[in-house]
Amino acid sequence: MMVTPPFMEPFRIKSVEPIPFPTAEERRNSLAQAGFNLFRVPARQVTVDLLTDSGTAAMSAAQWSAVFSGDESYAGARSYEGFEAVVRELTGMPEVIPVHQGRAAERILFGTLLRPGEISVANTHFDTTAASVAAAGARCIDLPGRPDLPGNTEDSGLFGGNIDLEGLERVLRGPEKVRCVVLTVTDNAGGGQPVSPANLAEVRRLCAPRGIGVLLDASRFAENAYLVTRRDPEWVRASIPDVARAMFDLADGCFASLKKDGLANTGGLIALRDAALARDCRNRLIEVEGFPTYGGLAGRDLEALTKGLHEVMDPRYLEYRAESASWFADQLETAGFPVLRPTGCHAVYVDAAAKLAHIPAPELPATALANALYLAGAVRVTDLGTLVFGGPDPEGGPDRPAPREWVRFALPRRVYTRNHLEYVADIAAQVAAKATALSGYRILEQARTLRHFTAVLAPLGEPVPFEH
Ligand code: F0G
Repeated sequence: MMVTPPFMEPFRIKSVEPIPFPTAEERRNSLAQAGFNLFRVPARQVTVDLLTDSGTAAMSAAQWSAVFSGDESYAGARSYEGFEAVVRELTGMPEVIPVHQGRAAERILFGTLLRPGEISVANTHFDTTAASVAAAGARCIDLPGRPDLPGNTEDSGLFGGNIDLEGLERVLRGPEKVRCVVLTVTDNAGGGQPVSPANLAEVRRLCAPRGIGVLLDASRFAENAYLVTRRDPEWVRASIPDVARAMFDLADGCFASLKKDGLANTGGLIALRDAALARDCRNRLIEVEGFPTYGGLAGRDLEALTKGLHEVMDPRYLEYRAESASWFADQLETAGFPVLRPTGCHAVYVDAAAKLAHIPAPELPATALANALYLAGAVRVTDLGTLVFGGPDPEGGPDRPAPREWVRFALPRRVYTRNHLEYVADIAAQVAAKATALSGYRILEQARTLRHFTAVLAPLGEPVPFEH
């Protein structure tokens, strides 16, 4: 399809919400009161919130209309039937289990599937997925793709979400009991990069004869399908539903946070082929989420998702989304930041370690950059560095560094226009100009798991003043 030049939002705005403009002093106070942790800053003190693309979408007029017709019956609600039909059509999987969000799907599915000591292998397990695997007493192995290895024939620059097939084969031949292989599409923790159908087909070829389940974390299935049509010559002419279906056809089951490509503010699902596994999941669902025809959601949420799952596959919407990410990456690069290329759809990832080379990993350079963006212009982004993926040293030494010090500028769906992103790029340029003067942070308080959500930090230097 032709890119509308210059790309523009393929929708008009019917309902608006004012955004806050805190002063420099208010930003300084908010951040200090939040223990220098952006998760603890109230949203009313944020001008442009790029913390996450999860649950932050703007719903369409069609979705809001559908909300009103939600059937709130406890059992056998009509809203479930519509949702089930759409998910069956999309995935080809007969067993459809709604849940309230992605991590509920993970907790139920992995808690049912995995036994203590077993292994789950993935391109990358998202952090909540890894937590569910660990809660089942099982262990995660992440095998992000490596283009230099034989067997990985695709250009990994284009399909950076692919799993390392040679590594997978080695693990499968090893002594450990691999129960499932998960492909996260797109690979959020690895930069929002897509997985190719060819890579998934190889995974299936390796797993099927060994009786190992292939699962998709399909939270961004439509964005993955779109990127496949743009990057794999074999799929250029395919429709988004056809690519998505081809991927689902190669899997035994899937789970998803529908707070992303469900285009709604809450929701998740498990879809399976195996009726016995689905029955066991449903029994667990009843314990922790709700009756199988609502699974922790209201009927109105199911209605919004049923429409959202259709809308998200509109090629013009997906093209706009990919083009905005790529354009925004250009702006951030012009502002002075190294960005991860090629861009995916849901976020732009900036390399904080390269820009803040004077701040060592244990002093949290990604946190320093994220906090500076907040102080400069109340822009909130996600820190994906040592605070998130590193950890405390058991011997009490400096923090174990994360493999990368990324900051993620996530793009909520249908929420911000290009003007908002231009503002963010402008703030980023102000921060880039003062990057060498920024200082790091140390951790005062932290939880044992997922510490980034609640940690309390202290700055290691004086704050740098910004223009406005
Ligand atoms: N899987 C992936 C790939 C995700 O990106 C997320 C959430 C989840 C599972 C968990 O879903 O939040 O509905 O329980 N990602 C959000 C983010 C939080 O900001 O990337 P959830």
